[in-house]
Amino acid sequence: MTLKLTHRPRRLRTNPVVRALIEENHLRTTDLVLPVFVCEDDFPSEIESMPGVFRWPIKDLTDKIIEWYNSGIKAFALFPKINPSLKSNSGLEILNTSSLIYRAASAIKALPLDLVLIADLALDPYTTHGQDGVLDKNGFVDNDPTTEILAEASLVCANAGFDWVAPSDMMDGRIGLIRDTLEKNSHKDVVILAYSAKFASSYYGPFRTAIGSIDSLQSIDKTSYQLNPANLQEAKRELLLDEEEGADILMIKPAEPFLDIIRFAHESFSIPIAAFQVSGEYSRIMAAHQLEWLDWKSCALESLLAIKRAGATLIFSYFADRLVEELS
Ligand code: PBG
Repeated sequence: MTLKLTHRPRRLRTNPVVRALIEENHLRTTDLVLPVFVCEDDFPSEIESMPGVFRWPIKDLTDKIIEWYNSGIKAFALFPKINPSLKSNSGLEILNTSSLIYRAASAIKALPLDLVLIADLALDPYTTHGQDGVLDKNGFVDNDPTTEILAEASLVCANAGFDWVAPSDMMDGRIGLIRDTLEKNSHKDVVILAYSAKFASSYYGPFRTAIGSIDSLQSIDKTSYQLNPANLQEAKRELLLDEEEGADILMIKPAEPFLDIIRFAHESFSIPIAAFQVSGEYSRIMAAHQLEWLDWKSCALESLLAIKRAGATLIFSYFADRLVEELS
């Protein structure tokens, strides 16, 4: 029998041309930022829990950046895995102007490429305990001294050539202090991308082993500064404070488990919203792919599109370099 229907939504799904005409959200390579790990070793090494993602020595990294750039990726966020002997309780290696990450930045910015280079501003790659700040005598992450170090480190980043700084530490007041410090030192064009709503997530595990801040599956408690995944109101407050303190871009992290927060931020602020599809979001898709339970590429695209649809303007993703063909 034939129904007499007023509405047949399937009419708009009959063929690829119609489907493309009514497509509401699009992913572009230029929306993506590729996170990149830098190391002091002689050779690149694949991160075990992140198949397809490598730590790069500077000498190989510059060639890789050229290759990625020519494929269409124009923005890179650098993360250092430093020699453990350089780590300390207070992580002051972050202020050493010839530290790995600053040498990497100088080498990359010496390339004749129009790219955006982003520094992750936090102490965890540099501290022996893996926390994002210095500890007080009770072992509690001490807000104000940490913030001062980060503000000073923002100048080292700017001087090394980083275009953007991205504080990922979740200390109170750091955006204001970093903005003030950059302004006072003639770095008025350095963009602050604030990790504003950064949740205490279990999805950071692969990243932490990648930069050597923990051994695999060892856990580290960051709940005295990162947000409780149960809390939307608290996330709103953090976003608002970072905007008021002078952030240029607000970031939500992780991405896919927090689409509601991304949507809230997109509807509430007039500055761009970024999202970080973090290491564990990458690893879970790749692991299921290796088990032949899921197809990594279609899952990655669906995940990124969901993040876009929720309201992220730019997305950090470890998949970025392997999706350029699909997205062009
Ligand atoms: C460090 C930092 C972390 C990530 C980015 N910057 C880890 C953490 O907070 O422990 C996570 C990125 C990822 O998992 O891909 N402040």
